[in-house]
This record gives sequence, structure tokens and C-alpha cells, in this order.
Amino acid sequence: MKKKLLVTDIPDSQYEGKRVFVRVDFNVPVNGGKITEDYRIRRTIPTIDYLTRCGARVILASHMGRPKGRRIERLSMAPVAARLNEFLGTKIHFPGAVVGRKVNNTSKRLKNGEVMLLENLRYHSEEQENDADFSKKLASLADIYVNEAFGTSHRAHASTYGMTAHFDKKLAGLMVGNEMKFLSRLIRRPKKPYVVIVGGMKIKDKIGALKNIIKKADKVLIGGGVAYTFLAAQGVNVGKCSVEREMLYWAREALDTYKEKILLPVDHVMAESAGGKKTLAVTGAEILDDMTAFDIGPKTVEKFTSHIKGEGTVFWNGPMGFFEVDDFSNGTSAIARSFALATWRGATTVLGGGDSVASLKKSGVKFSEATHVSTGGGACFEFLGGSDLPGISVLSDS
Ligand code: 3PG
Repeated sequence: MKKKLLVTDIPDSQYEGKRVFVRVDFNVPVNGGKITEDYRIRRTIPTIDYLTRCGARVILASHMGRPKGRRIERLSMAPVAARLNEFLGTKIHFPGAVVGRKVNNTSKRLKNGEVMLLENLRYHSEEQENDADFSKKLASLADIYVNEAFGTSHRAHASTYGMTAHFDKKLAGLMVGNEMKFLSRLIRRPKKPYVVIVGGMKIKDKIGALKNIIKKADKVLIGGGVAYTFLAAQGVNVGKCSVEREMLYWAREALDTYKEKILLPVDHVMAESAGGKKTLAVTGAEILDDMTAFDIGPKTVEKFTSHIKGEGTVFWNGPMGFFEVDDFSNGTSAIARSFALATWRGATTVLGGGDSVASLKKSGVKFSEATHVSTGGGACFEFLGGSDLPGISVLSDS
């Protein structure tokens, strides 16, 4: 992908008094109105600081969760506005809407160096539909467009794609620039051996990238929810674990073609239900009929960690189980510790995905114990799989 024009590549003076629309990815975990992980917010602060110092009037916009066009209060950006107040030490204007009179008035009254945050973009279904009118309304708020939402750049939505057609200047934020620089190097020349750890829930979301990544990787360790479709494809009994039926054929083919590369769990921690009666059992690869596997077992941990070494490259996307519940967090924590050790021993380690970031934190591993912690989950995976991300392709070339 071509190098993109960064916010710092145009003269500072061009921002003075200009309204700058900054698409950010503040899709962060919130529990009871409190943000539990704000890495994605912190990473955008240098760009916001830079623009406000240059005298720009900054309009921040993000989605949170998947409200599908409905106004769901727990997915409001209000807690993010409060966190930004703290980080920037200045009052953030928060009109509580995405478009409309209140938003227009607030944006017109913004003074140089002031910041405003829009409500959750996905309260409007037009955002994900990349609707032309909605794109135009968003674009009418500003003079300059900036993408500082690496984590959403794989989506061609109104705020990441459609609205950019209305701007001459479409710039990459500093964090997007950093992600591109680091991950591009990894695509071109991953240090060998290249070990990829895949977890999380859905193969369908990852299949495009996974196909390409498997070709390049030396070993692919598959755990978490995605493993059960692969195990089912091998004819292993997976009990009540959810299986993506439409992916079985592909999984079978991948297992045949890449026999030597793909490693699957050989034991599990299982229970009747995640929150109910604790019936934990650790056995072989088969899962009991009335049980669901919620974590990889100790033999799998041993097998996987023997491939996470202090050399080459380790890319990790997605937890190994339902790590939020302590009984099922052991596999993910063991992988996190081994990942950190690999960094200390000299490997290039890259972590992608909101869940993976949260799991690292829960395991007591610091972000500084990874070479690169990407703000993108799906976006990072697709980019490393070799896809052009629409939200990046559409930016002005450097
Ligand atoms: C993410 O968390 O991966 C991004 O914010 C994109 O969210 P989405 O998968 O709901 O589009």
C-alpha cells in the first residue's frame, strides 16, 4: 500500500481556525458506565494534542459496539467524553448527537484549539450502510479529514470511507501512520520462524486474512472458539461448542494442506455452562456431549508455548478461551506470559485485538512486554493478511 499523507506532513498554519474531522476508534470496553480499558483512547492523544496546538477545531467521531441503528444508552460515548476531559485537561463539547441542529451549532461555535465529540455513529444505520446523504452531513461539519481509527479502517462505512469524497485533504493520524509503518515491515519481511496464534470466536470474520497468513506462517496455533470448527472438521466430538458449519469444508481443506503448520488443542477446560454449576473437567481432544469447552487445557498450553520462542516473529490475535471468567483464564494467561518472555528473549511480538489487549492486562503482562500492541483487531489481521484497508486506501498519498 502507498505511503499516506500524515497530519504532520502539511504546514501547521493550514490548521489554524479550521474544523478537522478526526475519525477515531473509541470502541472500548465499558462496564456499568466505566471504561475498563482505554488504550485506544490514549493512543490518539498525540494527534489531538498536535491539532489543537496548531489552532484546529477538532471534531472527534467514533462508533461503540454494534447498536444497529438504535440508541442504546450503554453504548453512549458519554464515558469517553469524560475520559477525554481527564486526558486533555480541557472541557470536551459533547452535544449527545451525531447529526442535526445541536451538532451543527456546537461545531460552529467551537473556538480554535477546542474539541468536540459526537455521539455513537452507529446510532444511525446509515453509518454502516455508507449512506451518501449521511456521509455528506458528516462531511459538512469540517474542512479537513483525518483517519486516526486504525481499528475500523477495514470497514467501508460513511465515516471511514463515504464522507472522505467531500474533502481535498484526507490525512492519516500519527497512530495510524505508526501502525502502517510497523505492520508493513512485518508483511514484507517477517523474521522467521513466523508463529501466529489465533483465538477468539469467529472464523468467518477472519477467513480472508487467515488464508493468506497461513501461507506465510511457519506455525499457526489455533485456540479459543475458532478451534472447535477445526476440531469438528477433523471428526472430533466437540460437545456443545459452537461450530461454524459453513466453514467446515474450508477448515478440512486447510487442515489437509497445512498439516504440518496448524496446531489444535489436545485438551480442554470444559463446563456445563460458563456461569452456572462449576463442572470443570480436563480430558483429551474429545469434548463431552453435554459440555462446552471454555479454555485450552494444560497439555495444549505446553504444546503451544513450546513454539513461542525468543526468535522470529510471534503474532497473536484473540484469546484462548473465556478468559473474563477466572476458571477459564489459565490458557490465555499462560500464552500471554510466554508471549512476553518471547519479547524479552528477542522475538518480534505483535498483539492485535481489543480482547487480546484486555487479556494481556488481566494476565499481568505489560504492554511494554510486546514489540507492538496494535489498536486493531480485525483491521490488524486483515492488513497482515495482505488486504488493502478501505479506510486507509482512500487517504491522500504522501
Ligand atoms: C474493533 O473493535 O475491531 C473495531 O472497533 C471494529 O468494530 P466492528 O467489528 O464492530 O466493526
